[in-house]
This record gives sequence, structure tokens and C-alpha cells, in this order.
Amino acid sequence: MQVTVAKSAGFCFGVTKAVNQVYEQIQKQSKLPIYTYGPIIHNDLVVKDLEQKGVIVMDPGAPPKQYPLGVVIIRSHGVSQKVQQSLMDAGHQIVDATCPFVKKIHQIVQEQSQKGARILIAGNPTHPEVEGICGWSVHPVDVVEDLDQLQALSFHPEQPVCMVAQTTFHHIKFEKMVDFIKQVCYNVNVVNTICNATQQRQTQAQEIASQVDCMLVIGGRHSSNTQKLYEICKNVCNKTYFLQTVADIDPIWFEGTASVGITAGASTPNNIIEEVQTHVRIEF
Ligand code: F3S
Repeated sequence: MQVTVAKSAGFCFGVTKAVNQVYEQIQKQSKLPIYTYGPIIHNDLVVKDLEQKGVIVMDPGAPPKQYPLGVVIIRSHGVSQKVQQSLMDAGHQIVDATCPFVKKIHQIVQEQSQKGARILIAGNPTHPEVEGICGWSVHPVDVVEDLDQLQALSFHPEQPVCMVAQTTFHHIKFEKMVDFIKQVCYNVNVVNTICNATQQRQTQAQEIASQVDCMLVIGGRHSSNTQKLYEICKNVCNKTYFLQTVADIDPIWFEGTASVGITAGASTPNNIIEEVQTHVRIEF
């Protein structure tokens, strides 16, 4: 069987870095408890594996003081300055695994708000990444999810505005919002902070799916980015199948098939992708 695995399958750069930092801490730490501030990633297998190795998931809703002193790893989404401070005030050591692309947004928001610019964030206000970004502004910010919400705000044309986006925000939606804000304000500083990792994963998945007989999409059942990948692949390859682990593979999928493509959602660890790849190569 000819098997092609998408290079962008699975963890993006920021998540890989964060997960690796947890494993590094496990190697390093002998005495202090290790915490992650919320689950490091939305993948039960990874979280359970870390738990078995002694890592505790800290509840972001609970005061950090209630946990015995330890090392707290901040996940790739990042946190607000206030949360960071409260962890330090509680006496914990911090390992900041915030994705550098998210960190950059924190810096922009902090600097621009200090200079007096009104901060606009295109994103989902309840997403932890956006909650964290908001918390780096020195004054209240506006979070808008679409053009309608942006148009509903009132603007003073001369007031300086700085507009950024959640890293996973939709490109076209952002462009429309930028066009509008430039029409109503004179002094606008737009920083396109959308990360290409998701788009690249989708483009590569579509390319591979259009060239193979059968396409496998690995990911969590409730992962929306995996479902999106499945839809994209199914559109160009009728024999597209969804699976969580190698155990879900059904030999019927490969009847009359000479080539298989593999991609995986953002929360799928490499070892699962490799297991599936090896199984398909050896067994079929
Ligand atoms: Fe991943 Fe960082 Fe982009 S966490 S999706 S590489 S912003």
C-alpha cells in the first residue's frame, strides 16, 4: 500500500512545544508537584498519560493558593497578566509554554493599550486564548466575533485603534472587519495575528485526499477541527474515514485500494499517527 502522511498532520508548532515542555519538567522535577494550568491539550489520551506520570491539571477556576507549591506550566493558549501574577503570588514557579505567536499578541496589546489605543480583538470572547489576550491591555477592550458586532460599536474617528485577531480566526471575516474599521477611523493599526497552522493543515489534507484512493482522518470525536478536516477530505475523496486510534480501522476500507492518505486533527499526538501509518503499511 502506498501511504502518504500530511506533514502538517497533528500538533502545530505551539502545541508540540507546550507538550514537550511538560515532558521535560517530568524528567527534571523530583520534589515539586507539576501542574498544567488547565488541560495542556484537548486529548484525553495525552492528559491521562501525563496524569499517570504525576502531572496534575490545575483548575483555572480555583485559587492557585489552594494547590501545594509546585511548577505550573502555562499552556499554548497563554493566560492574562493577572492570572500569571496570581500564580506567582501563590508562590508557584512558572514555566511559560505560551505559543510565541500568542505571546506576540500579548505584547502588541500591552504596548498599544499603554500608548492609549483602543484595543479591538476579533475572536471568541469565551475562548481561553482571547481571555488571556484581553488581560494584557491596561484598559477595557472590545472583543468582536463578526462584522455585525463591530458595526454595532460606536467610534470616534480620531481615536487611535489597534486591531488584532485570535490566532484561529477566519481570514476573510477578519479582512471584512479591517475594511470597515479603516473606513470609520483615521488612525488604525491592524496586526494580522492569525496563525497559518490550521489553514495549512486543511490545504494539505485536501491536496492529498484528491490524489489517493482512500483518506484517513485521525482525531477526537468531539474535535471541531478534525470534523472540518473530514468534510474537506470527503468532498474530494469519497472513501474518507474518521478514526480515533488504530483500533478503529476496518479492513473493508482498503478493498480495491492502492493508495492511502493520512491526516490528523490538531490534538492528535504523533505516536497515534505513526501507529496508524505503520499498521496500514504492514497489514494491507
Ligand atoms: Fe498552534 Fe501557536 Fe498557531 S498554538 S495554531 S502555532 S498560534
